[in-house]
Amino acid sequence: MRFPLTLDRKSETMNILVTGTDGYIGMRLAAWLSSFGHQITGLDVGYYRDATLYLDPVGLPKLPQTLCKDLRTVTPDDFEGFDAVVHLAELSNDPLGEHNPDVTFEINHQGTLKIAQAARAAGVKRFVYASSCSVYGVAVTDIVDEESPVNPQTAYAQCKTLVEKDLKTMADDSFSVVFLRNATAYGPSPRMRFDIVLNDLCALAWTQKKIAMISDGSPWRPIVHIEDICEAMRCALEAPSSAINGEVFNVGSTSENYRVRDIANIIASVFTDCEVTTGPASGDNRSYRVSFEKIATQLPGFKSKWTAKEGAMELKRLFERIQMSQGTYEFRAFTRLKQLTYLQQTKQLDDKLYWSAR
Ligand SMILES: NC(=O)c1ccc[n+]([C@@H]2O[C@H](COP(=O)([O-])OP(=O)(O)OC[C@H]3O[C@@H](n4cnc5c(N)ncnc54)[C@H](O)[C@@H]3O)[C@@H](O)[C@H]2O)c1
Repeated sequence: MRFPLTLDRKSETMNILVTGTDGYIGMRLAAWLSSFGHQITGLDVGYYRDATLYLDPVGLPKLPQTLCKDLRTVTPDDFEGFDAVVHLAELSNDPLGEHNPDVTFEINHQGTLKIAQAARAAGVKRFVYASSCSVYGVAVTDIVDEESPVNPQTAYAQCKTLVEKDLKTMADDSFSVVFLRNATAYGPSPRMRFDIVLNDLCALAWTQKKIAMISDGSPWRPIVHIEDICEAMRCALEAPSSAINGEVFNVGSTSENYRVRDIANIIASVFTDCEVTTGPASGDNRSYRVSFEKIATQLPGFKSKWTAKEGAMELKRLFERIQMSQGTYEFRAFTRLKQLTYLQQTKQLDDKLYWSAR
């Protein structure tokens, strides 16, 4: 992990509320922003607290103080005294969204608007929203950019599109809103996800020495290292408002668009005892290649650093260090849908994903 050795003294430090600090990106983001001198407070309902993949006392300065709260219940009081909010806390992928579309709209669309309204009412000046390249869905052109029409295919992606549209109307001189459409993330986090493509395939390569794709792996996916996402969020927080207010930025690097089978082959070049096989063409029609020229040229300070191969090498080092087992890879909390299904089946969460007993 490449934490900066010194604090960046160029920018003012801020008091920032990060939602989703108990999740995959949030845990790394809180540490990343703290290492630049910002004061971080978390807000998270804690769906995935059951497991921590690794402990890293060097890489993680300290866990932020976290308000354990469902975002559907926030009030402006929760946002008093913060300069900025980074909003990550949502149901975070397509399978979760399809599992319960009504609750997805309640949390990801309505809940996010509630967060933004409460933050604005409390005088927060900047709102950074974690959107997703999945809004492009089935791309109709060779490569899409921020000006291309969106084409969301799932409840998850539809919510991202609706939030962008609704939040844009809230942006003004006293409330800057910026939309970061992240590519699919990869890389280590204590609150690991093995339901995202590069992390999943690396774990398969490590535990089974075989990546047997059920499809031909032809769809295109842009991928981005978790640290590049954290850096984009830092830059969006620290940029002059005129550079970011109301703007959408795809987060990633244009050279990091891959077919899924290419990702598998890169991984096999790192995990050298791993065999890759492909299957027939699949019904999954989500495929998009994305341009990241805007963020490279217009978000002050941002430079993406990681490649898929470096990411695979980093995960291999991590799996060696923690001697990752098959059981760990398959543990429910590292696959978001498995964990929520388990919490509902055991009646810890109700139908609407509220905790039933605490
Ligand atoms: N990881 C990716 O590849 C990726 C790519 C594009 C966009 N994003 C977006 O980035 C954000 C963070 O993604 P992640 O991978 O860290 O997801 P994650 O699932 O690991 O973390 C989400 C966190 O939000 C919390 N949360 C969910 N519903 C909540 C609620 N109702 N109230 C309070 N907290 C709640 C969960 O407990 C969890 O800790 C999400 O909005 C996701 O859509 C992620």
